[in-house]
Amino acid sequence: MPAKLLKGAEVAKEIRAELKAEVEKLKAEHGVVPGLVTILVGENPASQSYVRAKQNTAHELGFHSVQDNQPADTSEEKLLDLISSYNKDPQVHGILVQLPLPRHINENKVLLAIDPGKDVDAFHPVNVGKLMIGEPDYLPCTPAGIQELLVRSGTEISGAEVTVVGRSNIVGKPIAMMLLQKGKGANATVTVCHTRTKDVKFHTRRADILIVAAGVAEYVKGDMIKPGAVVIDVGVNEVGKTADGKRILKGDVAFDEAVEIAGAITPVPGGVGPMTITMLMKNTVRACKVHNRIKD
Ligand code: GUN
Repeated sequence: MPAKLLKGAEVAKEIRAELKAEVEKLKAEHGVVPGLVTILVGENPASQSYVRAKQNTAHELGFHSVQDNQPADTSEEKLLDLISSYNKDPQVHGILVQLPLPRHINENKVLLAIDPGKDVDAFHPVNVGKLMIGEPDYLPCTPAGIQELLVRSGTEISGAEVTVVGRSNIVGKPIAMMLLQKGKGANATVTVCHTRTKDVKFHTRRADILIVAAGVAEYVKGDMIKPGAVVIDVGVNEVGKTADGKRILKGDVAFDEAVEIAGAITPVPGGVGPMTITMLMKNTVRACKVHNRIKD
């Protein structure tokens, strides 16, 4: 029997409806509007498309949303000044600097400049540290989306063998950290594979939950998956264009093979991607409430 599809797009729609109602309530009862700024430096087409999707969702939910595009040759100093002004802006509760940045800009320095209370990506070292000790204020968006999808689909995480393929700061490391914490939606035994792992297949085949964020199209083949496993495909790889110019996207998992072996799998597109954006909105609503001292 083919695997059950974990349709993040549908779950994300439900959560967004809840958030929209929350935003309306914040406006009506407290006179506040969640504010999100997304800063994009340069013209990377993939980044432009991600940022557009984030801004569209922010608009749809009724946020005060600002898209700040800066040219590719923006200096590090100018970007730091810009962040400093948004840190002080009371209408802005969330600041997101789209990564990657041009090479002349030090990414860590930029992330460090964002007020941790407005760091809705949860990339600031303070937020990374809080996550590490199991006391996060904000969860990083893609890992939070993955965890939410697992929980809402009724996947047993406690005691499960989880293998994560990829060790990025954005996905691999934080999702590993989140799933091994004590508490609800966690308590897993986690293995992280990377480019120097000797036998990736050995580890992926042991996984009850396999999370793939390798950045390589169709890296995980069907024979690397344990029958019945839950497979979360974080990859979005453009592998070509259709005759009418539309992008052809593939995940990091060979879907047609995997769907015959896994118990459940996220599609690409329509799996993890929409969850990531929704978690960003959730973090921004939370930041707005914290900033205005509004209790849940
Ligand atoms: N680039 C790729 N993913 C992300 C993300 O989640 N946040 C930011 N700021 N940049 C990214």
